Amino acid sequence: MTYTPITASIIEELTAICSPSNVLTDSERIEGYSHDETSKEQYSVMPEVVVTPTTTEQVAAIMRLADRLTIPVTPRGAGSGLSGGAIPLFGGIVLSLEKMNRIIDIDEGNLTVTAEAGIVTNELNERLKDTGLFFAGYPMSLESCYLGGNIAENAGGGKAIKYGVTSRYVLGMTVVTPQGEIVHLGGKVTKDVSSYDLKQLYIGSEGTLGIITEATIKLIGIPKVASSLLVPFASAQQAISVVPLLMKQGIIPVSIEFMDRLSFEISCSYLNETLPLEGVAAMLLIEVDGSEEAQVEADLVAVGDLCEAQGAMEVYIAEDANNRERIWAVRRAIAEAIKVYSPIQSLEDVVVPIAAIPQVLPFLEELSTRYRLRIPCYGHAGDGNLHATVIKDPDWTIEKWLEVEPKILRELYAFIVGELGGKISGEHGIGLKRREFVKELTPSAEYELLKTLKRAFDPKNIMNPGKILI
Ligand code: LAC
Ligand code: ZN
Repeated sequence: MTYTPITASIIEELTAICSPSNVLTDSERIEGYSHDETSKEQYSVMPEVVVTPTTTEQVAAIMRLADRLTIPVTPRGAGSGLSGGAIPLFGGIVLSLEKMNRIIDIDEGNLTVTAEAGIVTNELNERLKDTGLFFAGYPMSLESCYLGGNIAENAGGGKAIKYGVTSRYVLGMTVVTPQGEIVHLGGKVTKDVSSYDLKQLYIGSEGTLGIITEATIKLIGIPKVASSLLVPFASAQQAISVVPLLMKQGIIPVSIEFMDRLSFEISCSYLNETLPLEGVAAMLLIEVDGSEEAQVEADLVAVGDLCEAQGAMEVYIAEDANNRERIWAVRRAIAEAIKVYSPIQSLEDVVVPIAAIPQVLPFLEELSTRYRLRIPCYGHAGDGNLHATVIKDPDWTIEKWLEVEPKILRELYAFIVGELGGKISGEHGIGLKRREFVKELTPSAEYELLKTLKRAFDPKNIMNPGKILI
């Protein structure tokens, strides 16, 4: 596919669509749009132009222009993605939703909120606070990520055991197609089998099928009581092995997060925080919530007892909001902290069936020993979703890293998919980073179906080209 380079007359057309202040070409200003949260040294391509439209109609007009002239368009949320989905692989236009951040309608009667794609996820919940309702399908990066990005990636996060992931909450959306048509999918209904489920298809499609500009989100009541347990173990394997037992206990916790020592140490030192660390190899952070204090307490006791019976060193209860927030802040900051510790790294996102969870750590340990690389591991253990992070040895050249990294990932994915029946990404997506592995690991008939689908939506291959599929 040959794409049309951006010319002065194209800039003029873009300016006419969304005003000069929403069209950026200055290389210093657009550099920030050349990468996301994946290692910049490995994944970065400069856009030719960045546009920041303010309405769905402007987005549609930009897509009509791109369709007419065959220009690649890469939609972008907050740029907090972890698989290179927002990187403009072929240059062209980066379409940032940053200025579309309005709340359109809070409908308490129908338990919905309708907002534009560029609203920061946490702000949505802040604005909803007085209603007693909230959007529960948010990821760990809630303070920076945008609603539209959450939907495009089908983000997960730390509450998925009980509350599920983003897709559970998207009732409706407005999408601009690659041809510049505006379509409204779903609505405020909670059930809908009225045709093919295009809305679900767009969720998690990583901006390759169209641009989500607005969404209607299902809200639920903020739980009245919530409490967390911090449970240190002297052995990481012991800690992770408790997870399947906890999942079978008949209690549905909000979260069961796992952090190995290296992960929480790096995060604590990044935040200047202290946790009790003496002899600790790993920790579980378990949250339980509900409407009755007595019930939450009984659940906590049951969870704590099971952990103790399985060899936990201690069970710390963090009932008060301050303590809970301190511990969760350490957990939330791990990815960022490891990135500061080592900007060149591969933050992984494998997910396995619950019973297979204990088998992941020994494999990582073996990889780490054989390749002599550090691989801190943390994540949403209750979902079987672990963020093993392969860190470049500071003494290695970038060339050596680039040669070895795919070998490690290939081994890891072969084990996760082939041996454990897992998947290579639970929440961060494929983007640019994992597309070769998707091709290798997907049976050809299935891969062809994916490609046929993409062609049907985007025959000119202008909508975030080069992502997910090759
Ligand atoms: C987390 C992000 C990296 O769980 O998904 O912290
Ligand atoms: Zn995560």
